[in-house]
Amino acid sequence: MPFIMNAWYVAAWPREVEAGKILARTICNEPMVLFRDEAGTAVALEDRCCHREMPLAMGWIEGGTVRCSYHGLRFDGRGKCVEIPGQPNVPPRARVRAFPLVERYGWLWVWPGDAAKADPASIPAIFQRMDHPDWTACGGTTYVKCHYQLISDNLLDLTHETYIHRSSLGNQAVVEHPIATKSDADKVVVQRLIPDHEPAPFWKANLFRKLGKHVNADRWQIIHFEPPANLVLDVGVTPAGRPRGEGVEGCNTNAITPETEDSTWYFWGFARKFSRDDAALSDKLVETIAKIFEEDRAACEAVHAVMKRNPGRKVVDVNADQGTILARRMVTGRIEAEAAAAARAAE
Ligand code: FES
Ligand SMILES: [Fe+2]
Repeated sequence: MPFIMNAWYVAAWPREVEAGKILARTICNEPMVLFRDEAGTAVALEDRCCHREMPLAMGWIEGGTVRCSYHGLRFDGRGKCVEIPGQPNVPPRARVRAFPLVERYGWLWVWPGDAAKADPASIPAIFQRMDHPDWTACGGTTYVKCHYQLISDNLLDLTHETYIHRSSLGNQAVVEHPIATKSDADKVVVQRLIPDHEPAPFWKANLFRKLGKHVNADRWQIIHFEPPANLVLDVGVTPAGRPRGEGVEGCNTNAITPETEDSTWYFWGFARKFSRDDAALSDKLVETIAKIFEEDRAACEAVHAVMKRNPGRKVVDVNADQGTILARRMVTGRIEAEAAAAARAAE
């Protein structure tokens, strides 16, 4: 299996799952249908009818249940068949797989692996600022035709800002300041501090909005990674030498969900402590960040295409890769542990 399956992945924004409609989405190679049950709770089922394997995505919703469009079997949000047209009895084995689905931190999280192991308490709390009363959050989705780990690599090595994002987030100061990397069994933290410099355009504009003048700034980037590919970046700038609270503090949240080995649903958010009462700013930030992430999308897709042409070729590592190397090692370890547990269970 190419992915960690026993993990929570963001499947969708709650607004994407509308009452009375089916959202078809593939997560970790598992085709799913998401819809709202009778109570309005979002649910996820395997996109395969247990009768003759018609995709349920081709059916429709009736009263919070999904009707298969082929011979009309109907399934509730737990995957149980509740109607077989023309037949009074419904055998208990007439059911489709249901995936655990939980709404938390402004997203819908799905567990594509063993449902018995799905504990909502393990949904990464690093995302809590997405619906925290002290922060204002916004966000979007970018669909990327690359392996999902290329996007976590991208976020763990922000030297790319100086080049890929040279008109917004990057400047020479980023690349000139080294990173400090820490890790334990469950996470990697990469920190870069950039004192007393002229801030990059994105931060310069946001600091000016708050202060009404241009000043030199201290900038911080603290990247928190948890497997499979959950990344929260504490970012911001403050007038040089001043406490962070006097500047503009942001939090970029990234939940990276594999669709297949070659495609990814990249859910991102931005929570801020600055200009919280500026309603138009959320829309502007989403527009700006979506444009910035288009630059990442183009880079990741280009790298993925080269890797597909040259499978297994060696690459050169540099100092800035410390975080990506540790994160990849952690993910590989989890995948191997799942495979070993599955092999033991099969003996
Ligand atoms: S395939 Fe779904 S009802 Fe027959
Ligand atoms: Fe980027």
